[in-house]
Amino acid sequence: MTAPPASGRFITLEGIDGAGKSSHIELLAAWLRTRGQEVVVTREPGGTELAERLRDLVLHTPMDALTEALLVFAARRDHLLHLIEPALARGATVLCDRFTDATFAYQGGGRGFDLDVLRDLEDWVQRGRQPDLTLWFRIAPASAAARRAAARAPDRFESQDEAFFARVDAGYATRCAAAPGRFVPVDASAERAAVWAQIEAVLTQRGLG
Ligand code: TYD
Repeated sequence: MTAPPASGRFITLEGIDGAGKSSHIELLAAWLRTRGQEVVVTREPGGTELAERLRDLVLHTPMDALTEALLVFAARRDHLLHLIEPALARGATVLCDRFTDATFAYQGGGRGFDLDVLRDLEDWVQRGRQPDLTLWFRIAPASAAARRAAARAPDRFESQDEAFFARVDAGYATRCAAAPGRFVPVDASAERAAVWAQIEAVLTQRGLG
């Protein structure tokens, strides 16, 4: 089975907690809307009522790694069927705060979960659907930890130590190496305006703006 035809664009934002991607997603949405695009902003885990309920479980309930991976992909399945695929089919640009690269980085890299199982789940759930562009917000794990410390109470992932986030970062690097045409690293340690300038340049270069 293959994913349904799509005339819209699917853009994902990735990076370790504290990299600052969430503050750029709305800027990016506004920028694309001024160019006349219909933009759907969403997130993972989440994006539909069921997926948001699964998100709450994944972020706050202790569970083993396979359960965690299955719930994240169950949420993704519902999200794809009911929100992402319909939006892409009608020509919208979908901006998604995290997607499957986060599963490979967090469950695979961070938790050390079996990558072959994740690849099987990816095939089952996505039927070939992949983002057109993935903006990878890169920042040193120590700097991200300092940013997180200034923010709100941590969830099950945000409370992990720096070694965990170093493994997550390595997980992203592996995914980036496997899909260099899709992944674009963004230097997220820079000032906000400088980070935005990089994003604007990438979108313009790729004809997505
Ligand atoms: P995020 O939305 O970035 O958190 P916040 O709202 O706190 O900014 O992501 C939620 C957490 O879920 C994040 O720590 C990473 C984790 N996560 C996974 O472990 N696996 C996944 O597949 C996804 C999508 C997220």
